[in-house]
Amino acid sequence: MREDSILNPALVEDDLHLRPRSLNDFVGQEAVKERLRIAIEAARTQARPLDHVLLSGPPGLGKTTLAGIIAAETGSEFRITSGPALERPGDLAAIMSNLDHGAVFFIDEIHRLPRVVEEVLYPAMEDFQLDIVLGKGPAAQSIRLDLPRFTLVGATTRKGKVTAPLRDRFGIEDRLDYYTEDELTLIINRSARILEVKVDDDAAQLIASRSRATPRIANRLLARIRDFAVARADGRADVDTTLRALQTYEVDDLGLDKVDRSILESIIEKFGGGPVGLTTLAIAVGEEPETVEDAYEPFLLQSGLLQRTPRGRMATDLAYRHLGVARSEQPRLL
Ligand SMILES: Nc1ncnc2c1ncn2[C@@H]1O[C@H](COP(=O)(O)OP(=O)(O)O)[C@@H](O)[C@H]1O
Ligand SMILES: [Mg+2]
Repeated sequence: MREDSILNPALVEDDLHLRPRSLNDFVGQEAVKERLRIAIEAARTQARPLDHVLLSGPPGLGKTTLAGIIAAETGSEFRITSGPALERPGDLAAIMSNLDHGAVFFIDEIHRLPRVVEEVLYPAMEDFQLDIVLGKGPAAQSIRLDLPRFTLVGATTRKGKVTAPLRDRFGIEDRLDYYTEDELTLIINRSARILEVKVDDDAAQLIASRSRATPRIANRLLARIRDFAVARADGRADVDTTLRALQTYEVDDLGLDKVDRSILESIIEKFGGGPVGLTTLAIAVGEEPETVEDAYEPFLLQSGLLQRTPRGRMATDLAYRHLGVARSEQPRLL
């Protein structure tokens, strides 16, 4: 992902303060929260760790936040790692062998777990045992480690890429969906209080409508609009200041940023509106195919700007209209 992408989590320097710490502070996703509340309460009543939880959904919707909340609500230690960071079974053993009893062990991007590590994870999830092979060849020794009981929380932007045997080992599976503008307005007002910036009601709604239905983007836009208000206005985010800020940061009236627009523009200008394959398209916009597919496409699809066909991606009429490009005539066959 590009360094300057608005979806880049590393860019939200205020992230830690803005992250809700309890289910009550977590805005929206009512059905998901209710199911989690039930599971947490049942586990507490029966004095056992919560079942393993798999959370899926596009980036920036609150998967990591929810994992932290699960730990906080159950009063458990919270340990974070990610699929790509666990290269060898030993990496897993190093973390898991010193978890507290009942710990929440969070694996982000769990669909990117290497196969050899995933296989060691199965018995760990099922029987709280880890089988590790030490050494190589005839001298190799297999040892079995007893693990404390823990709750694995996995997060993925791609549920389809989580293997069936891994998925089967999660007792609880839930999916986060895009947020409504009203929910995003609540999140923006909450974050504005924490960032100590005054945002008018209609400005908060305006920011919400440009946030691509995503809390991370709402918070990121808010932080930049705060900067703009402080540096270029009287410090208050009213509608006028907010509009000027959005223009400066090149966020358009659908909330699309430069990369979103360059995806649509490439399809239209370089590939005649499509269909174009994912890899070709990704190269054209200078992104990883996975980033285009996981981070950008879901919102473009859901807004009706992009269509996925078996032959590739196509720009819709709406995309042409949004970019103000006329559809060229189909080339005539001679
Ligand atoms: N439901 C929510 N209510 C309030 N803030 C949220 C909510 N979901 C996400 N956020 C904010 O958005 C940011 C991104 O969420 P995160 O959990 O990192 O998303 P993901 O892990 O799904 O990519 C968080 O730092 C948090 O401040
Ligand atoms: Mg995350």
